[in-house]
Amino acid sequence: MEQTVRVTGPSTVSGTVTVPGDKSVSHRALLLAALAPGTSRITGLSNGADVVHTAAAIVTLGATLTTLDERTVEVTGGALHEPAAVIDTGNSGTGIRLIAGLAAGLNGLTVLQGDASIARRPMDRIAVPLRLMGAVVDGREGGRLPPISIRGGDLRGIDYAAPVSSAQVKSAILLAGLRAAGETIVREPVRSRAHTEEMLTVRGADLDVDGATVRLRPSQLTAVDEAVPGDPSQAAFWLVGAAALAGSDVTVEGIYLGHARGGFLDVLRRMGADVTVTESASVPRAWDVRVRAGELRGTDIEEHEIAGLVDEVPALAVAAALAHGVTTVRGAAELRVKESDRVATTAAMLRAFGTEVEELPDGLVITGGARLHPGRVDSHGDHRIAMAASILALAADGPSEIIGFEAVATSYPGFLQTLDSVTVDSVASGDPVGD
Ligand code: S3P
Repeated sequence: MEQTVRVTGPSTVSGTVTVPGDKSVSHRALLLAALAPGTSRITGLSNGADVVHTAAAIVTLGATLTTLDERTVEVTGGALHEPAAVIDTGNSGTGIRLIAGLAAGLNGLTVLQGDASIARRPMDRIAVPLRLMGAVVDGREGGRLPPISIRGGDLRGIDYAAPVSSAQVKSAILLAGLRAAGETIVREPVRSRAHTEEMLTVRGADLDVDGATVRLRPSQLTAVDEAVPGDPSQAAFWLVGAAALAGSDVTVEGIYLGHARGGFLDVLRRMGADVTVTESASVPRAWDVRVRAGELRGTDIEEHEIAGLVDEVPALAVAAALAHGVTTVRGAAELRVKESDRVATTAAMLRAFGTEVEELPDGLVITGGARLHPGRVDSHGDHRIAMAASILALAADGPSEIIGFEAVATSYPGFLQTLDSVTVDSVASGDPVGD
């Protein structure tokens, strides 16, 4: 059911928060545990619906999953087989593309589908390399759109120069490459997030990385426990709010800040925010980030930076709207094929509050500093648009409405509770208004 949430500004954001487990790490922890013989315990797993779908998918593929509590599971893997049912990946592009890669290495047929947004997401980017490896991939429009089918097994390694930097594409190829004959090489224009390479290495895969090139030889994985760090992409909403809303001061504890995930912090620093990063005392390989508000100024976000902040553009657009001067985002055409066309939906979200925005084919030109009025924003089924709008609403004087707020559950079911805890009293309407 569509849900409308009211967020009433003005408010600062202050306090110490934690965020859900990193979504990228959570998907991979489940899939790699499903491939590895033995039992892996995963703690701190994302509780978002995307990851819940991937957890169900590995069970359909033959893994055993025991839920110990909302964030802790044990997975026994190593005996995957042709699934007896169609796999539903929900809203998750990462889920459908990574599972397609894993399925390419299995004998038999796997059919993958998802929700209305997934049905629009391009699959040719994985179909092309997986076919080169020997899988038979089909789907709507010749395999371009889901539902897609993969008849896998008997693969050979390829040397693949990916036309766009995409961790989903890289990961699909590497998961298939685990079972392919010979070496699998993926070359990217700019190195995307590195979770798959990092997590495969920890699990004993025979792999090396040279710049933006990954080489993998066929490998049997070992079961390894995983403590999932917090998700920097969810932290970004609180940290952007802290940077841009005068008088704010937020610390997010225990987030991942490895390769290609912390680019938004560099942008916030450049815009004038006060950012402090310290090693987490409680979460291994994670960081606590404190941001205090500053007088923000516009900046240019260049093409080479996009791979390092690809999911943070809606959040950074909020900072841009509240900064003095112009912010440009270029080289970000990939945003047009995310959960929504994020160039268009980010622009529409900003305009709803009175910010001047120009849409480019591959980016945005945002003129910041205008006095904002309360907005009425449609999420277009995109969790990040709903969350970005909730933060920008805090800068407007009066109640804003966010329609389609239910999308937030794909990645951040506790978002509204945290919004309540970091803002002044009764900012978010306690009970979301059901439509
Ligand atoms: C992800 C990779 C990114 C990102 C997505 C998660 C991943 O997509 O937008 O939210 O976990 O591999 P692309 O790699 O297609 O850019």
